[in-house]
Amino acid sequence: MNDPQPLIIANFKANKTWDELAAWLEIVSPKAADFSGTVILCPSAPFISEVSQKVKTAGIKIKIGSQDISQFNVGAYTGEFAASQITGQIDFALIGHSERRRYFGEDEKILTQKVQNCQKAKIEPIFCIQDSHDFIPQGVRIVAYEPPFAIGTGNPDTPQNTKAVSEKLKTRGDYLVLYGGSVSPNNAQSFLEKNIVDGLLIGSASLNPLDFTRILETAKLS
Ligand code: PGA
Repeated sequence: MNDPQPLIIANFKANKTWDELAAWLEIVSPKAADFSGTVILCPSAPFISEVSQKVKTAGIKIKIGSQDISQFNVGAYTGEFAASQITGQIDFALIGHSERRRYFGEDEKILTQKVQNCQKAKIEPIFCIQDSHDFIPQGVRIVAYEPPFAIGTGNPDTPQNTKAVSEKLKTRGDYLVLYGGSVSPNNAQSFLEKNIVDGLLIGSASLNPLDFTRILETAKLS
């Protein structure tokens, strides 16, 4: 993982049409060009291919990730897409987001298969956990600490507690640690100071391109 830090991830979840996504890119791309870390956009799956093409041809300094990947390899799995099918279109994949665990019943066995499929396809998994002692599959290098009470609630964890979680995680492995859960332009920098975490995973505040660019303007490790 040689991408400069902090990693700032926009997780669109099931939001935005193609036109809305293109309008977002128009506003965010110039700010991403000036940003010293790495911006990663995780759009809804139907747009991965087109947005990946667009950032490559236009030379936009944004990496593309998927919000999930199938636990299966290619085959008769209606509705799924295999990691090997989108190799080259994405650099990262979120695995084990708490919404996947909650609404789609993803357990440790399934998540381990997803991580392994990413690794085989040369996609960097970003493994989402909810606490410092949660299971992390072998070979994972980036973990995102996302306490469920903070996701989409406007009630983020404190930088102090996040620091304690991040330190514990780093004793478990040589991980880059991200924080996610109600990150906003007003609190983003408080999680990056003093190396509390190495980046941010942002849901709601990533949808508004002006909020997201405000985060990019302040986000730096210090
Ligand atoms: P939020 O979502 O920023 O809206 O809290 C974060 C996430 O679910 O990744």
